[in-house]
Amino acid sequence: MDIIEFINQRHSTPPKHLVAPAPNVDELALMINAAESAPDHGSLKPWRFLVIDTEQRAALGELFVQALARKEPSTEPELLERERERALRPPMLIAAIASLTPNHPKTPDIEQFLTAAAAAEHVMLAANSLGFGTIWLTGSRVYDRYVMTGLGLQADEHLIGLINIGTVASNVSFKTPNRRIVSVEFWRG
Ligand SMILES: Cc1cc2nc3c(=O)[nH]c(=O)nc-3n(C[C@H](O)[C@H](O)[C@H](O)COP(=O)(O)O)c2cc1C
Repeated sequence: MDIIEFINQRHSTPPKHLVAPAPNVDELALMINAAESAPDHGSLKPWRFLVIDTEQRAALGELFVQALARKEPSTEPELLERERERALRPPMLIAAIASLTPNHPKTPDIEQFLTAAAAAEHVMLAANSLGFGTIWLTGSRVYDRYVMTGLGLQADEHLIGLINIGTVASNVSFKTPNRRIVSVEFWRG
């Protein structure tokens, strides 16, 4: 497919439609390496991707549950179980991390965050080009320092997303995304 067409047709796949198989190790390596070409002011490589393998999912689910219970002690058990489920469901789960160099003379934190986001999008686009479905998810768990610490992040690291990846279930079909046709806007001074 032509690259412009590929970009225009990119879309997310809801986690409930992502099934096995997940990318294999070779495909995963291609995806993670696609991040290397993200635009990066100062070449700081301010990102890190942490794959949460299937055998670690129960521990991640427990971390999510503990984080929510600490923040909202009166959370209903049913909601806590739904929180646990988020860690268990995707065939592949990659934590996208902004790994900052604070007080950098040329590259403020915001630019480092933006680069990490661009890197995450590259990983997703690479997965899409290999035929997999993806979705970038966050929610309050992602911005919770308790979760970040549990994942082993350092103080200057920030979780920016939980990238869910898998094969798109065969019983779902996606309409071609209805993208806006926007007119080009020029600054007139
Ligand atoms: C930083 C970021 C965080 C997001 N967090 C969530 C989320 O927590 N829950 C959700 O349903 N969608 C979230 N989204 C949106 C989806 O990833 C997706 O982009 C959206 O559903 C639109 O679908 P599309 O990508 O097919 O256009 C997030 C997107 C970004 C860029």
